[in-house]
Amino acid sequence: MTTPRSVTAVAHANIALAKYWGKADDRENLPAVPSLSLTLEALRSRTSVSADASLTEDAVSLDGALATGRARERVVRLLDDVRALTETKLRLRVESHNDFPTASGLASSASGFAALALGASHALGRPLPVATLSSVARRASASAARSLFGGFVALRLGAASAEPVLDGAAWPLVMVIAVTAMGPKSVSSTDGMRHTLATSPYYPTWVTSAPALFAEVERAVLGRDFETLGAAIEQSALMMHASMLAARPALVYFSPATLRAMERVRALRREGTLAFYTMDAGPHVKVLCQEADAPSVAAALALVEGVERVIVSAAGPAAYVEDTA
Ligand code: DP6
Repeated sequence: MTTPRSVTAVAHANIALAKYWGKADDRENLPAVPSLSLTLEALRSRTSVSADASLTEDAVSLDGALATGRARERVVRLLDDVRALTETKLRLRVESHNDFPTASGLASSASGFAALALGASHALGRPLPVATLSSVARRASASAARSLFGGFVALRLGAASAEPVLDGAAWPLVMVIAVTAMGPKSVSSTDGMRHTLATSPYYPTWVTSAPALFAEVERAVLGRDFETLGAAIEQSALMMHASMLAARPALVYFSPATLRAMERVRALRREGTLAFYTMDAGPHVKVLCQEADAPSVAAALALVEGVERVIVSAAGPAAYVEDTA
């Protein structure tokens, strides 16, 4: 136990290669399927947390604005978990910034909650083991459990916390993100999962098919087999989206630009460049490729109609606390 202090924690976003969609346990926020992700260097949340004895409640600001409603409740619930584990009652002042658009399907909740869990435990003077932090982050947002770790990361079925599978440097793949125009505000992942579970006849098939796909993705990562990995990640993303498309009413995260970018990736393959796409709860297309192909894949995606920006990212590190010297 050290003295409470002010700290800044940094966590990087992650993109799932084998997707998580659906919960086995709503209260504990345990996923119904295993998932495997790549943590990304280029997308990060930086969260400052300080313990403040004069506060009567937590003061939370997200990207410069005071958090209210459901966003604030999720943060306070995570802080309550950390306070319970560290046996402290101190209220915290939290300021979190993302260096990418929040709630855009670019996984801001993953890096945000991972940085928050790490920052809060340090600010309370009681750094917790990384597996505990991953579990705390999972309760807030299951994909956040994976952002405590760098490189390739698994959140196994029934596991409380995520675990590293392979260091990013051991297989230097690159993710090229085609940021497409945002349509009307889309449905959050949490609400989208609930709706899919309640109304989609394809949801049970998704849940029973996902473990084998996850195992294939993991084997391909460990065996550095890029073609198998690519085929499996596309199938995981499309099976997840198929379950949403079969919901009532349908949950459609794709925009015309999403479909155009996907087609461009298929054309790249026909032209001889190995690249594979994945999409989450938003219209952006994330394209996995090998390091040498990243410049040409990025150039091709930048020319797709409706693609506003391209972000090129290598694998990123585990979450860390910044030096406060
Ligand atoms: C499509 O982790 O945001 O990005 O646990 O309800 O907060 P909650 O959901 P969240 O869902 C992420 C869904 C996804 C796929 C993935 O990251 O595995």
